[in-house]
Amino acid sequence: MTPPLASGHGKVILFGEHAVVHGQPALAAALDLGVHLTALTPDDTLSVQIEPWGTLTRPGKGSRMGEALDRVLGVIEGACGPVAPATLHFEATVPVGAGLGSSAALAVAFARALLMRVAAAPDDPTALILQAADASERVFHGNPSGVDHTTSALGGLIDFRRHRDPAFIPLDIAPVPLVIAQMAPGADTGKMVAGVRALLDAEPTLAADALELLGAVADAARQALLDGDLPRVGRLMDMAHGGLMTIGVSTADLDRGCHAARKAGAWGAKLTGAGGGGCMIAVGPQERLPAIAKALKATGALQTLITRAGVQPHGA
Ligand code: PMV
Repeated sequence: MTPPLASGHGKVILFGEHAVVHGQPALAAALDLGVHLTALTPDDTLSVQIEPWGTLTRPGKGSRMGEALDRVLGVIEGACGPVAPATLHFEATVPVGAGLGSSAALAVAFARALLMRVAAAPDDPTALILQAADASERVFHGNPSGVDHTTSALGGLIDFRRHRDPAFIPLDIAPVPLVIAQMAPGADTGKMVAGVRALLDAEPTLAADALELLGAVADAARQALLDGDLPRVGRLMDMAHGGLMTIGVSTADLDRGCHAARKAGAWGAKLTGAGGGGCMIAVGPQERLPAIAKALKATGALQTLITRAGVQPHGA
C-alpha cells in the first residue's frame, strides 16, 4: 500500500479492560492494522468508501456508521467551519467487530481526513480528533472510557486512566511481540460493560475488589514492560485473565484459547477488550509465537495474528 494520507490505528488492550471504565488504569497498544485514507477526491457531496467493508456511506442518520461519522463531522465543523465535500476512500486492515478497535480507527482516520478539507486549522488538532472520536464511539459503546480512540489516535503504548489529568501518558516502550487470536465473534461492548455494572450493583464489595486487583495488575505490568520483563508481563496476563473471569466477561472459548497458548509455550495469556467472545492475546518467546498461533488455530481460533503491539504512528 502506498503511504496513507491519514490513519487511525487498531488497538489491543494489554491490561485493565472493564476496570478502566471504573477509574482503574489500563495499558493499551496500537497495532499496525488500522483504517487508512488512501485517496481523497473532491466531489459535490461528502461520502465515505471503506474497502473491504464495501460500504459507501454518507454521514447522517439511518445507520450506526452513518451516525458515528455524522458526529465526527459535527465536532470538526463546529470547531473549524464547513468541510469541503469529497469522496474519501479508506482501506481497513483491522477486522471489524473483533474488539481490535475498528470503529475508533475509522473515527480517527475520518476526523484526520476532514481536517484536510477545512479552511481554518484547529489550534490543537489532536485534542479535536480525540473529541470527535469520543463523540463517534458513543454511538457504538454508550459510555466509552476513551482508551480505544486515544490509542487509535496517538499510536504507541498508552497508559490510560479516566478522569486523571492527563488521562493518557504515552510510554516509551518497544513494541511487544504478541499472538492475537479471535476465538469467537465479538460481543456487544455496551452489553458487556452493563454486565459488569450489574455485578457491581449485586456484589459491590467483591466486584470492586476484583476491579481494583485488575488495576493493580495493570500497574505492575507497566513496570514489567518498562523493565522489558516479558515473562513477568505473561504472568500478569494470567492474573488479569483470572480477574476478568471473576467479573464474568470471559467465555469457554477464551479460556480454552488461553490454556492452549500457555501449553504451547506462552509466558501468559488473557482475553483482550470487552470479552464475551472476540479476541485473546498471548505473549511468549519470539520463536514460540508461530507454534502458539498454530495451537490456537487447532483449538478453534477463527483467525490468528502474530504482531507487535505498541507501534508508532506512520503517515498520520
Ligand atoms: O470494545 P473493546 O473490545 O474495544 O473493549 C472496550 C474496553 C472496555 O474497557 C470493555 C470498555 C471501555 O470503554 O473501556
